Amino acid sequence: MSAEQSDLDAAADVIRDAELLVVLTGAGVSKESGVPTFRDSLDGLWAKYDPMDLATPDAFQRNPKLVWDWYEYRRQMVNSVQPNPGHYAIAALEDMLPEIVVITQNVDGLHQQAGSTDVIRLHGDITRHRCFDNCQGNPTLIDISMLTWDQESGPPHCPHCGAYVRPDVIWFTEALPSAALDRSFDLAQRCDVMLVVGTSGIVQPAAQLPYAAKRWSSATLIDVNPMRDEIAPMADIFLQGKSGELLPQLVARIRES
Ligand code: OAD
Repeated sequence: MSAEQSDLDAAADVIRDAELLVVLTGAGVSKESGVPTFRDSLDGLWAKYDPMDLATPDAFQRNPKLVWDWYEYRRQMVNSVQPNPGHYAIAALEDMLPEIVVITQNVDGLHQQAGSTDVIRLHGDITRHRCFDNCQGNPTLIDISMLTWDQESGPPHCPHCGAYVRPDVIWFTEALPSAALDRSFDLAQRCDVMLVVGTSGIVQPAAQLPYAAKRWSSATLIDVNPMRDEIAPMADIFLQGKSGELLPQLVARIRES
């Protein structure tokens, strides 16, 4: 099933007139780059692995090597992929609208690589590392290329305090960075249009942002997703399909007029 042309036209019309467009993205926007999502039933990461073993502070303390190796595997994968036409289409909107901010749950950096300049990263950055104890303040970033350690034995140690070094991502049970979260809710409450792309809309607090946009700013909500997940029922316009295919079509329509 693919989005109706009339829905694409309607979405282009509201985006063209937006003073402030917020684009909220999840793992689906990077799928066509080769980065697996979390909850797709066949190839989603959480279909194969238990997040409680790999993506919590307790899991890291129980088995630092397992968690470190899993994130290193994902970091190397992310370093080997490129933005897809969906990321480039979102970046292209910057030249067409007064203000556009991307809020992403993704840790892969592909929006910035595609050229988006204002990106709020709610769940961190998989290419960065920090001290587990944040001994020099939050975050105590560590450049692991400057460290030497026995990679077979697990993560390196913080050069300041000796605690383990961990990926600079948000794990389950951890709070999101407050400045990023506050700014995201402020934008949701002020935007004219929220374009939601490739998220199941399950994980809080990011999943609250579309509700905030509808409730507080009466924003028009557009959802781009091959599946009718949690956001589709409340969307004003649901564009069913892959973001790497639909977003370039949407941008072409906005550009044409
Ligand atoms: P999910 O894996 O939960 O959802 C991915 C969404 O992308 C689903 O709704 C898919 O239908 C959709 N999708 C798949 N292919 C697509 C495509 N080509 N184009 C557009 N959409 C597509 O991923 P998120 O919603 O991002 O958190 O998950 C949120 C958070 O849960 C992640 O940031 C991560 C995870 O646990 C942490 O690690 C803290």
